[in-house]
Parts: sequence; structure tokens; C-alpha cells
Amino acid sequence: MPVSRTNRLAIEGGRPVRQEPFPPRRLFGEEEKAAAMALFDEAIATGQAFGYNGPREQAYERDFAEYLGGGLAKAVNSGTSAVLAALAALELEPGSEVVVPPITDPGGVMPVAMMNCLPVPADTDGSSFNAGPEQIAAAITERTRALIVAHIMGEPADMQPVMDLARKHGLYVIEDCAQAHGASYRGRMVGTWGDLAAFSTMSGKHHATGAQGGVVFTRNEELFWKARRFMDRGKPFGTDETTNVRLGLNLNSNELSAAIGRAQLKKLPWIVQRRQELAEAICEGIADLPALAGPRLAPEATASYWFLRLSVDPSKLTVEKNRFAEAVRAEGVPVTVSYDHMPNEHIWFRQRRTYGTSGYPWPPGEAGEKAVQFDLPNCRAAIDRCFLIAVHENWSRREVDDTVAALRKVHAAFVKD
Ligand SMILES: Cc1ncc(COP(=O)(O)O)c(C=O)c1O
Repeated sequence: MPVSRTNRLAIEGGRPVRQEPFPPRRLFGEEEKAAAMALFDEAIATGQAFGYNGPREQAYERDFAEYLGGGLAKAVNSGTSAVLAALAALELEPGSEVVVPPITDPGGVMPVAMMNCLPVPADTDGSSFNAGPEQIAAAITERTRALIVAHIMGEPADMQPVMDLARKHGLYVIEDCAQAHGASYRGRMVGTWGDLAAFSTMSGKHHATGAQGGVVFTRNEELFWKARRFMDRGKPFGTDETTNVRLGLNLNSNELSAAIGRAQLKKLPWIVQRRQELAEAICEGIADLPALAGPRLAPEATASYWFLRLSVDPSKLTVEKNRFAEAVRAEGVPVTVSYDHMPNEHIWFRQRRTYGTSGYPWPPGEAGEKAVQFDLPNCRAAIDRCFLIAVHENWSRREVDDTVAALRKVHAAFVKD
């Protein structure tokens, strides 16, 4: 179909590029079903209920660590729990500052305040949704003890300069890989750069252990045991003690989740590869459009595309980004118009709704009010420029072609002469 201004946009009453719905993900299949059924068959045959920390969980954790090239992994009940346990392993003093991602799920930031530390968002790098090394450097103070670095949308953050910075200042680094399973940077998987990594394995992610889940990964045995104790009510794992050794929670995963996760893990390399092929094909199809661009990745980074992030150049368009994205969506393409998730703009953060009326860990009064104010100009600009395509592994060439056709049609209608 030739693209011209005479092709009326669907948002203006024209015929959408895509008439039928896009295919579902079909994340769970016969393999996951068989794994779960085997567990029930076993429970029925033996009369023993399946539990947690059993053989399937251990096998899943071994497989997960192996996928990352070796290390220690522990399954938990959510990505938020994974971030919390990773932080707990650092045993930070209350009131420590932790530099956090500026655009992320609340579950990537709330654990900092839960651990009685102050979350300090660094601005984005001016291109992606990730904090940049310069912006992280600007957020570091003498009270900073750790950095949480997220790879948002599956686009790796620029980890080498971040790690150099962390080493220079003696800071721990937690990588939040909730959106970035299988992404890599300088030939190494994300999650293997920092001291610890947190993954979400809920059903919307590349890889799932069922409805909810998460994994903590590290190559540091001491940190591993510290995280592990926190995850299970302070049990004396890895020590000679006989009673519980620290404050903790019950963040355990379980045999059923692990059985599903193990079947899932076998599909992960294919899922990542397929998303890369599809996202790259879409980017290629729009490469000549002046007002629209695919993600500019950090040097030597390979994204795993939780979503495909596209950005518009507002100076070259007759409409704002939201109208552009809504028009693409009206053409029948699955689009998220805005990923507007800045935790520091949320009510709980701005009003310090934490423990009773104390506002803790923030200081009381004016000092506390000031401590939750941040100027993040790149961040707001990135949100205002970007929209997301919900690309996934079950798309075929046809979905790519329709997406490209819709993007080109909308671009032709809204690009300035
Ligand atoms: C970057 C990031 N961190 C943490 C989380 C929290 O993970 P969960 O939803 O599994 O608790 C998410 C969830 O989407 C996330 O995207």
C-alpha cells in the first residue's frame, strides 16, 4: 500500500492497517503443564506435599545461574523481593543513600526505603530510560553506599563506566534485570556486572516462574548467604549457628514455581533471539524516517527488548508524541503510549508515606521535603519523546510488516514538510 497523506489515519476514521488482533504470547505451553503435573503426580503418589527449597528449586537455581555463565542464584516470590533481598545482603546502615533508577517499577525503588535507606534517583542518560554514568556520578554524595542500576526495556545500561565509578567510590552495585533477561553488554550478560542482580520472573517478563516470582543472582558467596538468610526469616544458612541470625522475611519461592521456571528457562534463549530479530526488523523498516527512531543502545550492548522503545523528534512533527503513538495504536498495533514511571513523582515518595507519620527514613520537616525533590530533566524529556511497541517472540514477519506499515503511515501524516 503506497503511503501518502491521502491514506486517512484510523484515528481519524480511516481503515486501520491491521484488521485482526496481534497474536498472544503463549508463554505457557505443554512443557510447563507437564512440569506442574509431574509435581502433583508425585505428591499424590507419595502423599507428600511439595514445598520449597526442594530438588526442583535447587535445579532451577542451578540452571538459572548456568544461563548467566555461572554463579549463585536463589529464587524468591517476586522481583520486588529480589531487590529487597539483594539490598538486605548489603547490610547498609539506616539513613544510607542508594542511587536508584529514575524510570522504573515501584518495586525497584520501594525496597530502599523498606531497608531504611534513602532512594536518590539519578537522571537518565539523555537517550534511553536508563540512568547514565555522568548522572549517577552527580547523584553520589558522601552518604551514598550503593547503586541500583536497571536495564529498562531490556536495554543494557552503560555498565563499565558505572562499575568504574562504583569502585572509585567504594559502592556496591545491584543490577535490576527485571526487564532485561538475556540482554548483554560487552559480551557479558546483564546481571553479571554488579555485586548482585535482581530478576523478576512474573508472567509479563521474558521468563516466568508462573504468575509471580523473582531471582537473586550473585557471584559473591558471602553476599549470597546474607541475601538467603534475609529471604527466609534469618535462618542460619551458611553458618554454624542454630537459631535465626537476623531480621528477615519469608520471600521464598516454591517447588511448583521452580518446576515451571525450569521448563521456561529452556525457551529463554529462543525468546531473546526472536525478540532481537523482530525489534531489529522493525527498526530497519523505519530507519529512513526523519522523525522516528529505534533505541540508541550503550556501546557494545545487545538489548533483549521487553518492549521496543521508539522515540519521536517533536521538532519534526506536527503533533505531540502521545497523539502520534495513539494514531499508531489506532492502526491496530499494540502500543503503550507512555511509560511514565518515575518513582520520585509517586505520592508515597513525595509525601514520604512510609512508617506511621514519621516519614522515616527521610528526615522530618523541611529537610525531608527537600530530600524528595529531584530535578530530572532528561528523564521527563525521554518519557515525553518515547512510546513502546509490545513486540514479543510469537510475532511473525506479518506483524513486523504491519507495524512498520502503521508507523510509516502515521509518520507520513504527521511529519513536517
Ligand atoms: C525494573 C523493575 N524492577 C522491579 C520490578 C518488580 O518486579 P515484580 O513485579 O516481580 O515484583 C519490576 C516489575 O515490573 C521492574 O520492571
